[in-house]
Amino acid sequence: MAEQTTGSRASDPAWAARGAHWARTAAKGLSDYDLPNQRLIEAAQIDEGMRCLDIASGAGEPAISIAVKVGPTGSVTCIDANSEMLQGAQDRADNLGLAHMRFEIGDMTSLPFDDNQFDAVTCRFGLMFADDPVAVLTDVRRVLKPGKRAAFMVHGPAADNSLNPVLAQAVADYFGEEVIKPNSRRHRYGGDGEMAGFFRKAGFSDVGDTPIREVRERPVEGRFWDVMLQRSHGARLEGLSETELEALHEVIAKAFAPFHKGDHYALHSAEQLAWGNA
Ligand SMILES: C[S@@+](CC[C@H](N)C(=O)[O-])C[C@H]1O[C@@H](n2cnc3c(N)ncnc32)[C@H](O)[C@@H]1O
Repeated sequence: MAEQTTGSRASDPAWAARGAHWARTAAKGLSDYDLPNQRLIEAAQIDEGMRCLDIASGAGEPAISIAVKVGPTGSVTCIDANSEMLQGAQDRADNLGLAHMRFEIGDMTSLPFDDNQFDAVTCRFGLMFADDPVAVLTDVRRVLKPGKRAAFMVHGPAADNSLNPVLAQAVADYFGEEVIKPNSRRHRYGGDGEMAGFFRKAGFSDVGDTPIREVRERPVEGRFWDVMLQRSHGARLEGLSETELEALHEVIAKAFAPFHKGDHYALHSAEQLAWGNA
C-alpha cells in the first residue's frame, strides 16, 4: 500500500474545489495518453533505480509512468497541494501495485525535503501556478543531487491550444460571463525560451527547451470534451438540471464545430518542455 504523509498544506481554493472531480475522471491504472509523460522522462534522463521527485503530481501524471520506468529498485515521491488530487494518484499506485511511490501533501514553493536527495525532478502542468517560478526552480536545484536533471512541462500559449480555451469560452458564454482572457494563468510561462530563462536564473546549467506542437484527433461520437468539462468546471455542473446540462453541451458542440474534419475533430495542442542540470 502506498504511503501518504502530510507536509505543509498549501491551500488553493480553485484546486480544492476541482480535486475530487479531477481524480474521478483520472485513469485508474496506467496513463490513458502517455506521450507527454515519456517526453518528460526522456528530458529528465530518468532510468531504472533512480530516486525521483514529481511536483504538482495531481492524479499521477507523469508520476505513475516514472514509477514504472524506475522499477522497484527506484522510488517516486509525489508532492501536491491538494489531497483529493493526490488520492487519485495513490489509488492508481495501489491498483498497479507500485509500492515504491510516496505521497506528500505540500507546496511546491517550499519543498519539505533535505538538500541533494533526488536523481531527477519532474513537473507537468504545475509551474504556472507559482507566482515566482525562479524561486520554485531554485528550491528544486537544492533538492537535486549535483549534476542531476530537472524537466518541467507547461502548456503553450492559449492561441496555440484548442481544447481548453475553446471549452472555457463556451462555458463562459453559456453562463453569460465575460470573454476569457487569452493566456491567463493556465497558459503563462509557455512562450519559447521563457522557462529556460527561469532555469538559468535559478542556477541550472546545460539548460534547454523545446516547443511541442501537435494536432490530436478526437472522435466525433460521444463528447470528447466531457472529461475536461468535469475537471475544470465540475462544481458548477452540479447546480444544473438535466435540461440545462444538455443546453450547455449544445453550446460546447457548436464551439467545437469549426474543428470537425470528416470523421474526427482535429484539435491543436501546444506545450513547452524545459530542462536543466543542478
Ligand atoms: C493541471 S494539474 C496537473 C496535475 C498533473 N501533473 C497532470 O499533469 O495531470 C495542477 C496541479 O498542481 C497542483 N498545485 C497547484 N498549486 C500548487 C502548489 N503551490 N504546490 C503544489 N501543488 C500545486 C494542483 O493541486 C494540481 O494537482
